[in-house]
Amino acid sequence: MSNRTFTIIKPDSVRKGNFGKIVSRLEAEGFRILSLKKVNLSTKQAEAFYGVHRERPFFPDLVRYMTSGTVYVAALEKENAVLALRTLMGATDPSKADAGTIRKEFGESIEQNAIHGSDSDDNAKIEIGFFFAESELM
Ligand code: CMP
Repeated sequence: MSNRTFTIIKPDSVRKGNFGKIVSRLEAEGFRILSLKKVNLSTKQAEAFYGVHRERPFFPDLVRYMTSGTVYVAALEKENAVLALRTLMGATDPSKADAGTIRKEFGESIEQNAIHGSDSDDNAKIEIGFFFAESELM
């Protein structure tokens, strides 16, 4: 189990002023922020980041949404980080997420679901590397 994961605080969260509240939830659960950046994703970046979903029917909408506004990307550290973040986020569809999860509290829809988290240690490594150099992780 790796101690690192990657998150995106998505455009709907930033637009609604929920960035700080979501970071507070992460800190309260014991995640350490190794690095954090404010980014406006280009279409190319969003397409590459979500490349595994390229053939899915929701892909064009997902790319449009993820490029619709500012996001924050962060590398996080905690024991069993991937699983811990997925538990804290809740189900992809906020209406199916457990009470107390970030997506239940802040998500709007299966697309505008407040936050992204890596789904495996391998993807966490790839996703962190997409935005950060190892020397930026403190
Ligand atoms: P995320 O965890 O970032 O990974 C893929 C994203 O695609 C997901 O969150 C949602 O924002 C978006 N998405 C939109 N529609 C769907 C869907 N039907 N199933 C899964 N993900 C979807």
